[in-house]
Amino acid sequence: MDGDAKKGERVFRKCQACHAVGEDAKNKVGPVLNGVVGRPVASVEDFAYSDTLKEMGAEGKTWTPEDLAAFLEKPRDYAKGTKMAFAGLRKEEERADVIAFLMTHKMG
Ligand code: HEM
Repeated sequence: MDGDAKKGERVFRKCQACHAVGEDAKNKVGPVLNGVVGRPVASVEDFAYSDTLKEMGAEGKTWTPEDLAAFLEKPRDYAKGTKMAFAGLRKEEERADVIAFLMTHKMG
């Protein structure tokens, strides 16, 4: 999966109503996404996740690039019961690009 982080920054506009990344990022409607690639599912401490994501986290799942791509294609199919109200990124390229962008935001 070879995404283009620069293009992914533009794709991330679709996420920004609900998610932030970067130094002063705070939880919005959705959790902060700094370091999300490789991060345990549902692990932002002060964010109120759905039971669905909490269960995935409790099972020890982490957000690999592959899992993220599957989630972002159709969030509500991949994680039934998720409260992420987003239809998904239909194009494989957009998914790869936004994941490459997220990988550039390791920490705060
Ligand atoms: C959860 C990514 C768009 C609201 C998540 C998670 C990821 C993610 C990776 C899981 C985080 C974790 O486990 O800590 C993205 C990306 C988006 C996007 C890359 C754009 C392509 C949106 C939009 C909204 C939203 C537009 C609001 C309408 C949420 C919420 C959760 C969440 C509420 C928590 C879900 C739950 O607890 O079931 N998102 N998201 N996201 N996102 Fe998004």
